[in-house]
Amino acid sequence: MKATAKAHTNIALIKYWGKRNEELILPTNSSLSITLDGFYTTTSVAFDEDLSEDIFVLNNEVITGEAYRRVSRFLHLIRETAGKQNLYARVNSVNEVPTAAGFASSASGFAALAAAGTRALGLDLTHEDLSRITRQGSGSACRSIYGGFVEWNMGEREDGTDSQAIQIQTENHWDVRVAAVELNSKMKKISSRAGMKRTVETSAFYSGWLDSIPNDLKEIKVGIATKDFEKVGAVAEANCLKMHATTLGAAPPFTYWHDSTMRVMQTVQEMREKGIPAYFTIDAGPNVKVLYLPENEEQVEKILKDIPDVQNVTLSKIGPGVTYL
Ligand code: DP6
Repeated sequence: MKATAKAHTNIALIKYWGKRNEELILPTNSSLSITLDGFYTTTSVAFDEDLSEDIFVLNNEVITGEAYRRVSRFLHLIRETAGKQNLYARVNSVNEVPTAAGFASSASGFAALAAAGTRALGLDLTHEDLSRITRQGSGSACRSIYGGFVEWNMGEREDGTDSQAIQIQTENHWDVRVAAVELNSKMKKISSRAGMKRTVETSAFYSGWLDSIPNDLKEIKVGIATKDFEKVGAVAEANCLKMHATTLGAAPPFTYWHDSTMRVMQTVQEMREKGIPAYFTIDAGPNVKVLYLPENEEQVEKILKDIPDVQNVTLSKIGPGVTYL
C-alpha cells in the first residue's frame, strides 16, 4: 500500500483559463503545454490501516489548513475510485520546483500525488485514466502525466469522462528550451483559481478569448509538428497576451503584470529585433517564461540576467512524464 512517483511541472503555450464545472475541474477551453525537465515533485503515499486521518508532509514540514484539505479531498477521490473509503495515508512530498523559478508547484504536485496514490492502492490505470483523476486535483496537473508536448482536450461530457490530456510529441521530438525569469516583486497574489473564476464570470473579453482558441491550437500543432520555432513562439506569445487581456476586462479589473514583467516582455521583443528568436509566456503571476533554442542559450541567459529587477534565471529543457521510483 505504498508507492513513490515523480512528476515534472509544465508550462502552457495555449493557456487553460476558465472552468465550466468547478467541482470536477472541467475547462472552458482545450490547452497545450510542454513538460519541463528542471522542475519536479517526488511524492510517496503510504496507506495505513492504523491512521485515523491523512497526514501531509511537504519539504519536511507538516501541512495544515487549505493546502492540507485540498490534498485530503483529492486522496478521497482516489480512495473512492479504489473502493477503500476508510483508509488514510501518509503523504511525503519533496518539491524540486524552486520557488525562485516562480513556478506554481501544483501541477507537478498533484500529478505525483495522483500517480503514487493510485499505484499505492493497486489501481492499474492508463495514462489517460490517470490524467482524468489528476485533473480533479488541479487542472494544469493533468498535463504533467506526460512528457514532451501535451494537449488537454477539454471534452464535452458533463461528467468529465472525456476531459483528459494526451501526448502529441515526446520529449525527444525537439529541443526547445525555457528560461524561467523570476522577478523581484511583492505583489498581492490572486491565485489562478480565483483569477480565472472572476474572469469567466465578469470579463467583457472572455468570449473573444474562447473564440480564438481553436485556431491557436491548430496553428501551434502545425508549428510543433514541423519544428517551426517562429510559429510556435508567435502563437504562444499571442495566446498569453489574450489570456492576460481578459483580466483587464474583468470586474473588478486586475492584472498579474508588474512593471518589471513588461520590461522582460519588451526585452524579449528586442531580442527578436536583434535576430535572436525568443518568445515569452506568463501564467497567473508576474514572472515570465522565455522560449528559446539551444544555440542561443548563452546570449538569452545573459540578456535576461542583465534586466533590472530580475532576481533569478533558471534554464530548463523539455522533460519526461510521470515515473515510479
Ligand atoms: C494560467 O491548474 O493552477 O497556469 O485547476 O484551479 O487548480 P486549478 O488551476 P491551475 O491553473 C493554471 C492556469 C495557468 C494556465 C495553464 O497552466 O494552462
